Amino acid sequence: MNKKKVIQYLAPFAIVGIVIVFVLNFITHGSIQHPGKSTYQSRCAQCHGDHGEGIRTLTPPLIHADLPVQQFDSLACWIKYGMNHPIKVNGVDYDQPMYPNDIDEIQTANVINYMCKEFLEHDTSVNSIWVKEKWKTCK
Ligand code: HEC
Repeated sequence: MNKKKVIQYLAPFAIVGIVIVFVLNFITHGSIQHPGKSTYQSRCAQCHGDHGEGIRTLTPPLIHADLPVQQFDSLACWIKYGMNHPIKVNGVDYDQPMYPNDIDEIQTANVINYMCKEFLEHDTSVNSIWVKEKWKTCK
């Protein structure tokens, strides 16, 4: 058998193999993970909680939070430069520092979209161009 024949013979098996791996991956992971989830879990969840519940009066919640929806245009700046002034979220006062995050505009857009979908019930999605525009306005 020459080389070409061998390839012709094996190609269908390779394709079937790839499809099986893909299907198994889909079954074990349930669905494709939101691109902002890993950033949220590694950089935000330790303070804001896996479910955005916050920590008592130390860290404000993200779940059903009113402030990030009201001041949506400031979100990208808060994430990049942190936040350190008294705020009110859902009627409760908070005043602990949130540290800056060294993440790029794509990760920032993804994490904002993840927050909107999972916690804020804010039917919006942003992209990296929007994030860069907002960063120009940070005080
Ligand atoms: C070190 C703990 C900590 C981490 C990590 C952290 N935050 Fe915060 N976050 C806070 C605190 C404390 C405040 C309140 C700041 C203030 O009062 O000035 C806050 C405020 C906020 C607010 C506005 C108030 C609210 O709850 O709606 C948003 C939105 C927010 N954080 C999102 C994020 C996102 C997104 C990340 C990850 C990229 C993140 N935070 C990481 C502690 C943290």
